[in-house]
Amino acid sequence: MREHVFDVVVIGSGPGGYVAAIRASQLGLKTALLEKGELGGTCLNVGCIPSKALLHSTEMLHFAEKKAANHGIQFSGISMDLSQTMKRKDTVVETLRKGVRALVTKKGGSIFEGLGIIQNPDTIVVKKGEEETILTAKNIIVATGSTPIELSFLPYDGKTVVSSDQAIAFDSVPAELAVIGASAIGLELSSVWARLGSKVTVIEYLPKIAPSFDDDICKLSERVFKRQGLIFHTGTKVTGAESKRDKLVLTAEKNGKDVRIEADIVLVAVGRKPNTKNTGLESVGVKLDDKGRIQIDQHFKTNIPGIYAIGDVVAGPMLAHKAEEEGVAVAEIIAGKAGHVNYEVIPNVIYTDPEIASVGISEQEAKEQGIEVVTGKFNLSANGRAIASDVTEGLVKVIADAKTDKLLGVQILAHNASELIAASVTHMEYGGSAEDLARTIHAHPSLSESIKEAALDVDGRGIHSL
Ligand code: NAI
Repeated sequence: MREHVFDVVVIGSGPGGYVAAIRASQLGLKTALLEKGELGGTCLNVGCIPSKALLHSTEMLHFAEKKAANHGIQFSGISMDLSQTMKRKDTVVETLRKGVRALVTKKGGSIFEGLGIIQNPDTIVVKKGEEETILTAKNIIVATGSTPIELSFLPYDGKTVVSSDQAIAFDSVPAELAVIGASAIGLELSSVWARLGSKVTVIEYLPKIAPSFDDDICKLSERVFKRQGLIFHTGTKVTGAESKRDKLVLTAEKNGKDVRIEADIVLVAVGRKPNTKNTGLESVGVKLDDKGRIQIDQHFKTNIPGIYAIGDVVAGPMLAHKAEEEGVAVAEIIAGKAGHVNYEVIPNVIYTDPEIASVGISEQEAKEQGIEVVTGKFNLSANGRAIASDVTEGLVKVIADAKTDKLLGVQILAHNASELIAASVTHMEYGGSAEDLARTIHAHPSLSESIKEAALDVDGRGIHSL
């Protein structure tokens, strides 16, 4: 058994963990990063990255099949070689995995492969097969991530009842796919398989799709995605499932009525739960909150001195960029600096086409919080660049405080909304107002002008809206 001494040991190499390891190394701390699976965690291996590779490939197919002719581009005999699509996706993942290894090691961090188990608040055992390595460190950062939630009546079998882990790697296109949950995972993977030819039915418990976004964005998104062929049952609770010949039949309840949905494969996308088991957290007495997440204070400290936690395993949105920012902040705090995360200004994106993106609060959330707001809107169909590029489906909505004009939220449904939202994030980070946004010069022609126009509309001065 070998023993190593570190200043910081990070358990889990997802976006939270590997970024924490890099920042800690940059700050001169001797750092180890532990990973029991593949470097990069859920996001890189079975989440954000592979899904974006598939979304991009299938968007190009969609363009070739449905849009190209309008531009005078003629394709004949279009077909999709799914094995090549998957191979490309795997290459993308492998490239980035190598990138994580290079970044961590070149910045001075050490990588240990194996299951990290906390034995004492300053001792971790790394198990790999029969081999055990002991690491000691004054500081341990738990960044063990999350796993898909399972429905009790619909256990995962990896073939007909699947989570996103498998739905990014089918070897053939399912004829009928049922998707439970119309949030990020549900909508992104529905788009992929619908573009490849599946009949996709999405069932959502809440009355709207993409429920965390503003009502206006949700309504328009539903209309747009229906036109793309997705079938939605909102306000519908899946209550059971049975096998019928070679199909699965889901039973659900919608407005007091029974609904039955037949499918070859069911993707369950009803959220994720924190990974707190098998890491020795219980044995050292780390406290969890009422939702099973590791309880931390404002400095990411657990109740056990020297043990910190970040990312999906603690409270807050389960987003890669939130985990990354926490990774930077916790490393800085350990190094004696003032690490900080601004939780009010975290962008949220669903990578459909058009994409849905937001920062801050929706109009409904403002009302729930008792904040009086003013709003402005702009429809992409009136934007010159959108018309020239054939991407006119979409809407921008700006939400500002009625008294101070402070920008409280921006919601976008648009092609490339993931990129467009960045400027609004910056405005909000600096405490900008709707007026600041309205007076900022945006390049013409560009989709970003829609955001300026929505800000102008806050007090009815839109130039390009009717
Ligand atoms: P989610 O928690 O965002 O949404 C789950 C949805 O399932 C909710 O709308 C909920 O109302 C619905 N639901 C729950 N039980 C149901 C039932 N029995 N019948 C019908 N509907 C039901 O979960 P999701 O999409 O699985 O994502 C998990 C996490 O991963 C989220 O925190 C998400 O933000 C993150 N993620 C982020 C991505 C991105 O940033 N683009 C991509 C993928 C995941």
